[in-house]
Amino acid sequence: MGHVKKAVLAYSGGVDTSVCIPYLKNECGVEEVITLAVDLGQGAELEPVQQKALDSGAKESLVANVQERFVTDFAFPAIQANALYENRYPLSTALARPLIAQLLVETAEKYGADAIAHGCTGKGNDQVRFDVSIAALNPNLAILAPARGWGMSREEAIAYGEHHGISFAVKKSSPYSIDLNLLGRAIEAGHLEDPWTEPLEEVYTMTRAMADTPNDPEYVEIGFDQGVPVSLNGQKLGGVELITRLNAIAGNHGVGRIDMVENRLVGIKSREIYECPAMVVLIQAHRDLESLVLTADVTRYKRGIEETYSQLVYNGLWFSPLKTALDAFVQKTQERVTGTVRMKLFKGNATPAGRKSELSLYDMGLATYGAEDVFDHKAAEGFIYIWGLPTRVWSERVRG
Ligand code: ARG
Repeated sequence: MGHVKKAVLAYSGGVDTSVCIPYLKNECGVEEVITLAVDLGQGAELEPVQQKALDSGAKESLVANVQERFVTDFAFPAIQANALYENRYPLSTALARPLIAQLLVETAEKYGADAIAHGCTGKGNDQVRFDVSIAALNPNLAILAPARGWGMSREEAIAYGEHHGISFAVKKSSPYSIDLNLLGRAIEAGHLEDPWTEPLEEVYTMTRAMADTPNDPEYVEIGFDQGVPVSLNGQKLGGVELITRLNAIAGNHGVGRIDMVENRLVGIKSREIYECPAMVVLIQAHRDLESLVLTADVTRYKRGIEETYSQLVYNGLWFSPLKTALDAFVQKTQERVTGTVRMKLFKGNATPAGRKSELSLYDMGLATYGAEDVFDHKAAEGFIYIWGLPTRVWSERVRG
């Protein structure tokens, strides 16, 4: 590894990233470490984190509040793409990584740093997302991932940090590994590592236990403008406010819990628990509105695009030519996805209960079974004759 003058470190204030500061300076020959803590709506105060980096030996400690950018540039496009990894996970963690990478690169360029560092281990998806995104945005920056190779246990890491003057608050250490932002929570480890074991209620914080949810359903009306959620119950809201409120409303009904075994990019199957109340409701509502305003062929073709899109985002290819091309497709399809969906929240479920749009393709005259019917029933005969022709010919040959 060549000599590094200045590195920008993705910083959370946790054990690993704190230990990275002296480790980079003492073991990796980095002269100056600039830390960057990113506020993605974790709900934690970042001032203590900022000070902690300085106490741990950072030359400069930066904090970026990018919640609005997170929602506008990452969550909303994912909703437009109905992005669910392996059909279930709304990518709450995965969507944050390219944004953090973008901020790290912007900071490195602004401060003239020659490297970017992060505290990811070698087993997860996040290291891939960071490294690939950073390389896509600025291939000249070196990437240092000391935790990938230092081989220290958690206790050893703490001891190393303490040896270099970092004090770790003696809070009762949680058995879980948790990633949290405005879009949701991801919980792993502890008893969750056995995929047969039901999660204890204690792992959840954003969603209420089913037994404690209200006994009456609650309805929310979500307004979309070109595929982007813009209002809640008729009230126009900015993205962060809308997602924050919807997290609370849906979480109160136990909506958004996901318990799954997923396939990591690095080949490992892992058991993950997610809580993504707002994202689950928004994607379901958005998909429902699409059923009203998109033609059948666009809807069906888009399903395949959505699947590929979700895999790309999960696999760290947010900044990639294929992702950019898929974005263009999705954006084109969203031009008429404007309208309102009424969602019913009840006992862990979010189900569409109604939808309307000025741009609806639904035609009452064609659909009705009543007297107003305008559909030409006789035309069906000729259509069926031709539609069924290949099958008829096949059957005649096979049956002889
Ligand atoms: N498995 C998810 C992903 O790769 C979330 C991982 C988040 N980290 C955690 N400590 N639970 O997107």
